[in-house]
Amino acid sequence: MCGIVGYVGYRDAASVCKDGLMHLEYRGYDSYGIASLSPKLSVFKSVGKISNAKNISSLKGTCAIGHTRWATHGVPSEINAHPLTDCGDKIAVVHNGIIENYAKLKAALIKRGHVFKSETDTEVIPHLIEEKYTGNLLDAVSKILPMLEGSYAILAVAEGENTIVAARKGSPLVLGVGDSEYIFASDAVPLIDYTKNVIYLEDGDIAEVKSDGYKIFNGKKIVKHPISKIEWDASVVRKSGFPHYMLKEIFEQPDVFSNTIQSVKENKEVVALIKKASSITVVACGTSANASMIFSYMMEAVCKIPTRVVVGSEYKYFPTPASSLVIGVSQSGETADTISALKISKDMGAKTIAVTNVLGSSITRTADVVLYTRAGPEVSVAATKSFTAQVAAFIEIVNLVSGKKLEPAVSDILRYLPDVVSADVSSAVELCKNASTLLYVGRGMFYPVAMEGALKMKEISYIHAEGYAAGELKHGPFALLCRETPVAALCLHGATYSVMMSNLKEIKARNAPLVAVGEAGDQDLEDLCDVFIPLPKVSEYAGIILSSVILQIMAYHCAVALGRDVDMPRNLAKSVTVE
Ligand code: AGP
Repeated sequence: MCGIVGYVGYRDAASVCKDGLMHLEYRGYDSYGIASLSPKLSVFKSVGKISNAKNISSLKGTCAIGHTRWATHGVPSEINAHPLTDCGDKIAVVHNGIIENYAKLKAALIKRGHVFKSETDTEVIPHLIEEKYTGNLLDAVSKILPMLEGSYAILAVAEGENTIVAARKGSPLVLGVGDSEYIFASDAVPLIDYTKNVIYLEDGDIAEVKSDGYKIFNGKKIVKHPISKIEWDASVVRKSGFPHYMLKEIFEQPDVFSNTIQSVKENKEVVALIKKASSITVVACGTSANASMIFSYMMEAVCKIPTRVVVGSEYKYFPTPASSLVIGVSQSGETADTISALKISKDMGAKTIAVTNVLGSSITRTADVVLYTRAGPEVSVAATKSFTAQVAAFIEIVNLVSGKKLEPAVSDILRYLPDVVSADVSSAVELCKNASTLLYVGRGMFYPVAMEGALKMKEISYIHAEGYAAGELKHGPFALLCRETPVAALCLHGATYSVMMSNLKEIKARNAPLVAVGEAGDQDLEDLCDVFIPLPKVSEYAGIILSSVILQIMAYHCAVALGRDVDMPRNLAKSVTVE
């Protein structure tokens, strides 16, 4: 939600901001804008896609700030888009986060003669800066920050200074350190074309950046944060010949799997904490919650450690006892509900672990210990490789905690995943794409796989889909079964096979078209269903990853067949930074 980019150096700053904001499109937005200094302050704002922006070439200069806005306070409109300016249009600000006391600040500013143009909470910031500005932007921003309540990542510029002043509290902001050029962004992806050197700003930091250097303050003190190296290459954030990022990211899964396993092997602290735990609570949202549910099945079955999963937004209603180990799982590391659940558990005295894909993300500052899944940046809103990476991390954790009981799963996945990503699912897509409702069913660990398959399908194809424990169908959803309601079933050999077969017969008896993912050569299953998608004979734990990938591909091809905006589905944002 909301993306920020700022550049100061020697290039055409507005173009750098535009390109950077396009890299952040996946965060979700409805309007955008850029302000540049040349030396006069010029602002261009619009509603819609930044790739369609025509007039940005009119913005000159080597210092600019830009923003993609996901509306919270005020409708998506040119006026409400950032950058927002002061009364004299000499100071411009972009902001990610929410200023909770803006109404009070705005009323006081209006009383003091300020005229507001937008309905946003953000606009109070340039007006407050205007009141304190006497030719030094750093000084003015430092004076107004204590007045702001809420969360922010802010970039500000003022006519007359080729400088960006940035501040961070609770919303992500990174600084790329190049050679006589500096670039701010909400995450590291937009930096990659200019530098691999990155500083992750901390809460309370204020940075002053000019083309000849930068200073970072926290309070009144200058702070020296370490410069980290971005681990991936620019090719990771290009489509590289794929029609969509989602398909590219699906194809990256075999490599990701190995990276993640390695990351767990190197992280002795996480495994040690889990080994000591008497009970575990996992907090996560969406796809991360589905991956976490797979983890809970594995922990209970293999490691015999009681493990429950609570979706981030519900955690506050039944928090965990302090004796429980709490694990927050978030691809982006910015999901507000998951982070606030971790904070609550920390306040109650629980030990906390963050499992995330994004280095330096907010969740890494909240948890006691961090495990990186190392899937590389995921651009498509629909999580694919980051899900596989989470499940891979969980498999390896269980493997290490249990004394290598899941080793066969790891080798099966390494062997078969490269072929499974290009499995033929065209008949399944034909059967499902015109449905208005789909049901996904599985048992045991395949139940969360079914929920994840349904989530993937609904978010990118807009077909209503629900994942159920196969045994639950008879308790209500059976009423939906008819020729128009296809069912996708996960029916691999193993503990759940025979009872799944009975459930599938009951489904077929109600005339519902059936797509089944099963083991190659399973003639009984093939005869029973309408579309059979064979997987190689693998261990049950490998089957969860391989069948999840099949459901990702099915959702992808359905969405393409329906002409959907696959990488940026309507109404969704990649990182959900509001509760
Ligand atoms: C997944 O395809 C979704 N885009 C969504 O459910 C996502 O998994 C959820 O918002 C949680 O995100 P996180 O992993 O970054 O915390």
